Amino acid sequence: MSIVRLPGLIDVHVHMRQPGGDHKETWSTGTAAALAGGFSTVLAMPNTTPAVVDEASLEIAADLAAAGARCDFGLYLGAGHGNAGAVGALASRSAGLKMYLGQTFGDLRLDDQAVWSAHLDAWPENEVVAIHAEGSSLQTVISLAESIGRPIHVCHVADANDISLVAAAKDRGMRITCEVTPHHLFLDVTTPLGSGRAEVRPRLGTPDDRRALWEHLDVIDCFATDHAPHSLAEKDGLDPPPGFPGLETALPLLLTAVHEGSLTIGDIVERFHVRPSEIFGLPTDTDTWTEVDVDAEYQIAASGESRSGWTPFAATPVRGRVVRVVIRGEVAYEQGKVVAGPGTGRDVRMEGRAI
Ligand code: NCD
Ligand code: ZN
Repeated sequence: MSIVRLPGLIDVHVHMRQPGGDHKETWSTGTAAALAGGFSTVLAMPNTTPAVVDEASLEIAADLAAAGARCDFGLYLGAGHGNAGAVGALASRSAGLKMYLGQTFGDLRLDDQAVWSAHLDAWPENEVVAIHAEGSSLQTVISLAESIGRPIHVCHVADANDISLVAAAKDRGMRITCEVTPHHLFLDVTTPLGSGRAEVRPRLGTPDDRRALWEHLDVIDCFATDHAPHSLAEKDGLDPPPGFPGLETALPLLLTAVHEGSLTIGDIVERFHVRPSEIFGLPTDTDTWTEVDVDAEYQIAASGESRSGWTPFAATPVRGRVVRVVIRGEVAYEQGKVVAGPGTGRDVRMEGRAI
């Protein structure tokens, strides 16, 4: 056993399914999965039912999160067709503004470029705009943001073309950051998952895409799971929704890459702690940490704490296990047991909330 202590890990891209999708995940089950995966903070996406797009829906989501969360959390607001401008007043209470410009689960997709520009213009400059865009829409939104000096964060960059677009924008001096998911680093179209289970947005890339992501590690600011739980019945059904659960497998997979020499522990800390806290302006706390046993060898279990009840990484041999998570001095997870109860997690933007 060889224990390494990491600072509090932050996953800037998760989907908890409340309100409206409790059979897929709740704040209680999703943050139990976060703790089991070694995370102490998660930032949750707004494509719930209803979507989080205004003050009333933010209040509903924030109340559910406050009641259920076992780790700290933040909530994104969704950019809609009619809320550019108005949504900016809520910026300080949110993790950031999420703009869906690509194909996704839910009804937050924006296909009108005038609306993209309205949001990029109106959202406060010092708050994060996180963008789901691929290919030509990524190119367009980079140009729009660059022309007005608006910083953007690009979600789940997944292929060789898109990581090159981000790299080139960084080279030009644009304030652009990005995240990459473990599933795009460790899986590709050749992985035999079965058609419904393989559905995810962005889609899994080719082996060359996967290699390109690894070759551009220096361009990747954050790792983020895009934990997108759907039930197995849905994934194996007639109209499988896209998304993989990812909270419980990210760290073991990345620690295995450390063991194999393709990554360092410092690379993980940089992308799951340092850059997320810098980009999203999140508090860091020396009494919050995660301990991992970097020697533990085992196979990833078929399911864990997440209500989704499956993982695309079942039976994958890994080296590296989460043994303890401590949040603000309190043990939240230890030796396979979730200790923190629902409601113990804090909203990382709480100071901005009207109480
Ligand atoms: C996400 C979901 O299920 O909410 N699915 C996915 O494949 N990543 C939606 C999204 O992040 O686009
Ligand atoms: Zn997502």
